Amino acid sequence: MAKIGNIDVGDFPLLLAPMEDVSDPPFRALCKEQGADVVYTEFISSEGLIRDAAKSVMKLDIYEKERPVGIQIFGAVLESMLRSIEIVEASGPDIIDINFGCPVKKVVSKGAGAGILKDIDLMVSLTEAMVKHTNLPITVKTRLGWDHDSIKIVEVAERLQDVGCKAISIHGRTRAQLYKGNADWAPIADVKNNQRMHIPVFGNGDVDTPERAMEMRDKYGLDGAMIGRASIGYPWFFREVKHFFETGTHCAPPTMTERVEAAKRHLQMSIDWKGEKLGVFETRRHYTNYFKGIPDFKQYRMKMVTSDESVDVFAAFDEVLEKFGDFQFS
Ligand SMILES: Cc1cc2nc3c(=O)[nH]c(=O)nc-3n(C[C@H](O)[C@H](O)[C@H](O)COP(=O)(O)O)c2cc1C
Repeated sequence: MAKIGNIDVGDFPLLLAPMEDVSDPPFRALCKEQGADVVYTEFISSEGLIRDAAKSVMKLDIYEKERPVGIQIFGAVLESMLRSIEIVEASGPDIIDINFGCPVKKVVSKGAGAGILKDIDLMVSLTEAMVKHTNLPITVKTRLGWDHDSIKIVEVAERLQDVGCKAISIHGRTRAQLYKGNADWAPIADVKNNQRMHIPVFGNGDVDTPERAMEMRDKYGLDGAMIGRASIGYPWFFREVKHFFETGTHCAPPTMTERVEAAKRHLQMSIDWKGEKLGVFETRRHYTNYFKGIPDFKQYRMKMVTSDESVDVFAAFDEVLEKFGDFQFS
């Protein structure tokens, strides 16, 4: 059984990765329904929060049904991080996660995200200060290192644990790799195999089939799998992994009716949450995956992604159901 602080997250939990513009409340709700054990918000700027930037503050919204939920923040300035913890706490998350892995230049150049991998002492002292500043469990998400020549993740993880970090999720790439090449899970297993480690070590990067999730559990011996891209527009990935763990077989892919239902609920929840315009616009990215595999789908997809009116998008969903209701997904 893995535990994040006092929160029991089950045996080999599946965690929905924090993903900018993806891991919002509607998407998290769908993933939770399909078996995600822990969900995270996208990263939220500590500087944005303390300036009360509306965009950052909106990202703090969480719903009861998604618990346990972690709010992820990033930054490199101690005062801002501490002040933002107080703001985050007011939203009532179960976990506060620190992003020490974002490779994007505008984040890294400020020493935040993966930028902090160049200054491990700062990474540790920031974490320690944050742990002391809240009663909520602080967790860390990071990468293997800055680049191939500076991988010290075993030592880094141990130091983070020693200052009170309650779990660590490790993406098996360096900052230099961005998303290139394959994620390497061996160094993550080294972290887990360190006899001194007692907090959960979650693996991340390229878990894109149930078999890969099983490999992460059985071959690499990690405590859980954090899943990102495989879930985008496909929240059923979580149930597929769970079914595979339970039975050793693959469950049937979601039917067209299920897909249309999910797409409709996703859109409706997005509209309820952020209004018609943004709801319609920001849900678009998911549709390609919801309906992946249907031949000659482009004209229908275009209907879903070109109108600014939800009524048109809902009508396009109904049309797809009528036209392809019997389509067999493989
Ligand atoms: C669209 C997108 C947005 C992301 N945003 C974040 C983020 O806000 N915070 C974070 O820690 N990682 C972020 N990531 C990285 C993912 O959490 C994850 O580490 C990475 O995608 C590797 O896992 P995967 O192979 O399962 O996708 C993002 C990834 C993607 C694809």
